[in-house]
Amino acid sequence: MQIVVEHSEALRGEVQVPGAKNSVLKLMAVTLLAEGEYRLTNVPDIADVDTMCDLLRALGVQSKRVGTHELVLTNTGNITPVAPFEQVDRIRASINVLGPLVGRYGSADIAMPGGDDFGSRPIDLHVMGLEAMGATFELNRDGIRATAKDLHGATIELKFPSVGATENILTAAVLANGVTVIDNAAREPEIVDLCNMLVDMGANIAGIGTDRLSITGVKPNQLHSTDHEVVNDRVQAATYISAVAVTRGDVFVRGARAEHMEMLINRFSEMGVGITPQQDGLHVTCQDRLRAIDFATLPYPGIATDYKPLLVGMLAVSDGTGIATENLYPGRFRYVDELMKLGADVRIDGHHAVVRGVEQLVGAPVNAPDIRAGAALVVAGLVATGQTIVSDIHHIDRGYDDLVGRLAGLGARITRRS
Ligand code: UD1
Repeated sequence: MQIVVEHSEALRGEVQVPGAKNSVLKLMAVTLLAEGEYRLTNVPDIADVDTMCDLLRALGVQSKRVGTHELVLTNTGNITPVAPFEQVDRIRASINVLGPLVGRYGSADIAMPGGDDFGSRPIDLHVMGLEAMGATFELNRDGIRATAKDLHGATIELKFPSVGATENILTAAVLANGVTVIDNAAREPEIVDLCNMLVDMGANIAGIGTDRLSITGVKPNQLHSTDHEVVNDRVQAATYISAVAVTRGDVFVRGARAEHMEMLINRFSEMGVGITPQQDGLHVTCQDRLRAIDFATLPYPGIATDYKPLLVGMLAVSDGTGIATENLYPGRFRYVDELMKLGADVRIDGHHAVVRGVEQLVGAPVNAPDIRAGAALVVAGLVATGQTIVSDIHHIDRGYDDLVGRLAGLGARITRRS
């Protein structure tokens, strides 16, 4: 499968932002915590959801899609806390079954997590937090085995606000004895979404949306299933905004939430993108060539590392030189080689990328190295002359719900071919 992108005119119209991959996979994992039927709505139609369904099925939770954007998950209480390698290896978020399994069933055997291959992705903070609550870990070549007789509350200070570690400590703490405090917790909108679903299930969580979460454990019989609408995907929203920006278009991005993207919107504005929050979305316009800026990735509310390939793609056609600094994943510049095949002028220096804007990108065959970088190459292809053929699009399909259809709906000249 490939995505073929032709040079496109200004994008116009309206696009709907789907639910967030980085939320739905975690929401699915917490169905392990309590028996019952869960109805998730605004579920993105992406491959990672299917992979998570496979993993949950192996553990004992059944799932059924209703239409394209609804998912019903059923936990009948018959859970085997062993996560097989075949599913775990395919997505990073599979590590999110660790907290619920240890918290609810007292043990978890998990093959080491997979997902996007951008450098080392340790889980020491997950382990440290759960150990502080009384869990013990054996690490071996195949994965991890965690056991806990009775988890107890603890005060845990994360040396870095890791998204995954915050989630696993949080989901284990929901059923621990006493109070768990997570200091320097990650506070991404997707974590707020997870907290909200847990509270609806009967969990007791204070400090939601702040960097200090306080969780008072409840008894297993106090937790119950719930229905939940997945928060919209700020990274997919940013993808459409960047596509409008490079093509100098005029689009209403329905479902994009300004309060989840404040810092990014400020940077886009500095580049010359007009963004006006309206009820239920953002009106995005761009008339002139973009202006180069410098930016650095940081944990939320900073500029997310997932936005970076999009911003680097925008800098590639901006007026001037911009420096992108990666503070989270040192290896996350590999896609730059692909962007350079389109004529981008980028020099990597340690964890900085120096991008000199060019007047015109040139279409070429490229490979999608991961989800976000793949999308950024598609967006760049919109303003490259001729044809850009993006291969390895299974990466894009992991996290983007009909990227091609949504861009085509805005007038982009883009198709999929097998
Ligand atoms: C999540 C997102 C990913 C996003 C990232 C940062 C999912 C499925 N993935 O990944 O798209 O790019 O947040 O916003 O939601 N770290 C440690 N030790 C740990 C855990 C993390 O050193 O135990 C480091 C990592 O190596 C990395 C940084 O912390 O440098 C961020 O990792 P983390 O916030 O945990 O990201 P993920 O949850 O893996």
